[in-house]
Amino acid sequence: MASSRPTARQQQQQHLSDAEISRQKRAAALAAAELIEDGMRVGLGTGSTVAYLLPAIAARGCEGLRCVATSPATESAARALGLTVEALDEVGELDIAIDGADQIDERGWLIKGGGGAHTREKIVAAAARRFVVIASANKTVLELEPPVPLELVAFGVQRTLTSLDPARLRGIEPSPDGGLIADYLGPVGAPKELAARLSAAPGVVDHGLFEPELVSLILIAGDSGLERRAGAKQ
Ligand code: 5RP
Repeated sequence: MASSRPTARQQQQQHLSDAEISRQKRAAALAAAELIEDGMRVGLGTGSTVAYLLPAIAARGCEGLRCVATSPATESAARALGLTVEALDEVGELDIAIDGADQIDERGWLIKGGGGAHTREKIVAAAARRFVVIASANKTVLELEPPVPLELVAFGVQRTLTSLDPARLRGIEPSPDGGLIADYLGPVGAPKELAARLSAAPGVVDHGLFEPELVSLILIAGDSGLERRAGAKQ
């Protein structure tokens, strides 16, 4: 997806090698897998950090797990590891959901959707009693930056783009649910106001801004260990 590119700030912070970033993603994922217990109903996110989570959950050998996947890629990877994957509406409320993020700011706001899965990811995060975010240290930012991924209804998409200011949008790609993914490139300094504006725009299915109230715990792996940031949803 277009929005999986690093932001300007993240590019400045890219002194970390790819190997170190992968090590950190894995460390955060392994710590989150420790939270899984027998019989839990578990929401599984999407992306390269979650790719470390899935085998770590499978390796725990918990009994009676019921998983819900946020993308076709996660669903097939989880099934291949022997995890039971069901539809969210079959499982109902989730005990926990675990997912990655593109950006994490100091107040606990997230930008997600670099994998184009933010609509399902937000539904699953909201359905979970605890939503745990896993990330490498390069995902932390002082202030959020564009892009913010959007999912748009295909019907009348040109009209929707016009209403949102086409100069501030890029890239249209299909979403797994029949919509279209685009990146919003306007200012993100006031995320609450922007989230409200995007949510209110006809034709926008959902956006990649996740408010702190959705998040229970953020696990950030860095070069000096694991940082745990408590979220607002307890
Ligand atoms: C997918 C997401 C991902 O969680 C986010 O893009 C982080 O991905 P990665 O773990 O590959 O860095 O929101 O829609």
